[in-house]
Amino acid sequence: MGRIPAEIIDQIRFANDIVGLVSEYVRLTKKGRNFVGNCPFHQERDPSFTVSPDKQIFYCFGCHVGGNVFKFLMLAENIDFQDAVRRLAERAGIKIPQNSDPFTSRRAAEEERIWNINKMAAEFYHRQLLDAPGAADARRYLLERGVSEQTVRAFQLGYAPAGWDGLRRFLQSRQVELSQAVKAGLLVPTERGGFYDRFRHRIIFPIHDHAGHVVGFGGRVLDDSQPKYLNTPETNFFNKGRLLYGLHLAKRAIQQTNQAVLVEGYMDVIAAHQGGATNTVATLGTALTERQGKLLLRYTDTVYIAYDADNAGQNATWRGLDLLQSLGLNLYVVELPDGKDPDEYFRRHTLADWQQLLRSSRSLMEYKLSVINKYSSTAQALQEVLPSLAAIDSPVKQEEGVRLVAATLGLSWETVKEELKRYTALPGKKEPETDKIVKNKHNIINGSKITPAWQRAEQYLLRLLIEQPQYLPVVRSTLGDAFWQQPELREIYQAFDAAWQKGKTGGPVSWLEELAPETATSAVRLMLDDFPVQDADKLLHDCIAVIQKHLSRQQKGLLLKAIQDAERNGDWILVHQYIRQLQNLQ
Ligand code: UTP
Ligand code: MN
Repeated sequence: MGRIPAEIIDQIRFANDIVGLVSEYVRLTKKGRNFVGNCPFHQERDPSFTVSPDKQIFYCFGCHVGGNVFKFLMLAENIDFQDAVRRLAERAGIKIPQNSDPFTSRRAAEEERIWNINKMAAEFYHRQLLDAPGAADARRYLLERGVSEQTVRAFQLGYAPAGWDGLRRFLQSRQVELSQAVKAGLLVPTERGGFYDRFRHRIIFPIHDHAGHVVGFGGRVLDDSQPKYLNTPETNFFNKGRLLYGLHLAKRAIQQTNQAVLVEGYMDVIAAHQGGATNTVATLGTALTERQGKLLLRYTDTVYIAYDADNAGQNATWRGLDLLQSLGLNLYVVELPDGKDPDEYFRRHTLADWQQLLRSSRSLMEYKLSVINKYSSTAQALQEVLPSLAAIDSPVKQEEGVRLVAATLGLSWETVKEELKRYTALPGKKEPETDKIVKNKHNIINGSKITPAWQRAEQYLLRLLIEQPQYLPVVRSTLGDAFWQQPELREIYQAFDAAWQKGKTGGPVSWLEELAPETATSAVRLMLDDFPVQDADKLLHDCIAVIQKHLSRQQKGLLLKAIQDAERNGDWILVHQYIRQLQNLQ
């Protein structure tokens, strides 16, 4: 998709109230004109995260991030600006006109058509499971597996009827183009030009992306026949490695508990959620991918792996776990008793048991060490645990880890330490992405006591102008508009002034998007910093006076220096001119 027109962006910004959006992630309480809560972007106990409904912006005084609704979604979901605009458009039911770039817009349109058909199909299957006489076996099957009706509804579970054309006829009745349903993987074309249903007599598990679109399906047999699960075929539009099953339902809980539990199958997620462990998602039986790791990183930095016992020790699993760790995730391996999977575990245990199990689980490194007998040599074993050791960020804990590795492998402590040093010196090891947000501090505008008066005067003046733009003409007539000495403030002023000329300073601050990201953050901070104004007129004139004084002192300095130079050159006419100017200044 090409550039989204500015009017549409304005419309989207207006349609998404920042308090409503942030409330989906953070519990906010009202404080004066603003709302405050615990920052979702860093760990804190005292709320320093502030949201202004008047200005439609947020700022965290702890980790110094801030911006408008787009910026918030970019940070909360780790997406870029365009994606944030698109998501908020969808949230507000605003259509973004398709234009310019024909390839991406065609693809986006096609994807949306597929989502639509999938949504219709999911509703059809779901209704079948709830009401159809032919679905009695399916209902009994789920009942026997302990799945409640509430869970059936939450996961929108369904039943694909036993015939060959139940879905096809339903889609036809809805005027769906059948070739599109083939692209969605729901229908299979025959040689004679007909179509039949891919999923027949199966329990249906719709697969959603994290934003809640139905992107595919899994279908389970009701008996022991094969294949046990049939899935939507892999296409450009459906790729298991880019998804985590259940994430659309789990993401809030993952963010709130700051931990995710990774399981293997559909039923594991469903049983865990039903049991109260709503921070559970599944990889659907495939090897872990970087994409999945990054998806998790949007919401947390801690992941518990609760794979079936027989799979956790497999090579593909190890590689996947190292990969997650290299992205900056803290990994723990949950050992399920008696080789059960989480679905079976929840049939006989409570949420408290589960949480106890997680608490007692070992870090990836400890787990690796515990199964070390699988490795053929000590050297190889050491290489396996180095990434885990390197990922420990607390020096004390890393030291402990070094000792543990040394003791377990029968090596000296120095050797392990030396190897670790060599490993960490390797290039190409990535920093955790979550750090970026916190490192992105930018506090030119920090109002501290050591700031010179004229700098504070510029800050207050700009803040005042943003609050009360009717002062703009006064300022312009006394100071002009080239007086800003702090480049960042000058940029903010220019963007704001340009918006004011167009009559667009009210409501959500649209001009923020005109600024470089760091400058926009500073602008947001400026707007949300404490600003107790009793007498705006007085403040205005004080600021102007301070700035004027500063400017004239500066000019005086320049003139004195020019006089010196002219004297040295013996240019007495110039000296005379400068002295006159100096006198005028005073
Ligand atoms: P499992 O074989 O562990 O199945 O496969 P399960 O989740 O325990 O299923 P139940 O409890 O017997 O119903 C784990 C995951 O691997 C994928 C599915 O996503 C499954 O949930 N899988 C498995 C398939 O896609 N196809 C298969 O034939 C088998
Ligand atoms: Mn199972």
